[in-house]
Amino acid sequence: MMAAKRLFLINGPNLNMLGKREPGTYGKASLDQVVKLVKDTAWEYGYEVEDFQSNHEGDLVDQLHKADGQAAGVIINPAAYTHTSIALRDAVSAISQPVIELHISNVHARESFRHQSMLAPVCQGQIVGFGIDGYRLAALGLINKIESEGRHAR
Ligand code: DQA
Repeated sequence: MMAAKRLFLINGPNLNMLGKREPGTYGKASLDQVVKLVKDTAWEYGYEVEDFQSNHEGDLVDQLHKADGQAAGVIINPAAYTHTSIALRDAVSAISQPVIELHISNVHARESFRHQSMLAPVCQGQIVGFGIDGYRLAALGLINKIESEGRHAR
């Protein structure tokens, strides 16, 4: 389905603590700064961004469903649910919009339980290890994908 020039930015559990939480791993930027980075990047290409953060798996599922019809694409950092959530994977499969999975840290250089992603096989692509700049890269990649496929309504 064609959607407006709108992206959904979805952040999972504990990402509301960005800036305070393990700054050596996740950096000192707050979630508000991350949201602004994505909004500023998207705006340059005429896209608006609806941001959403939740610590609750079902709320993240609901937001992915909402993207169907309301967003041209989704950037998601599923945080710890990346490694456990079949429900989030099924929600990504249930919608037709391209979804980019993103991690601030290089999950492959960390504990082995972070090496597996339930969602990655059903996402358009994955960005890991670039710190919060990964959010900007995800927005650029997603917009490029949407524009090249002509998926949005003008
Ligand atoms: C994370 C990596 C996950 O393993 C972790 O549970 C997070 C954040 C990241 O952005 O690097 O909460 O998704």
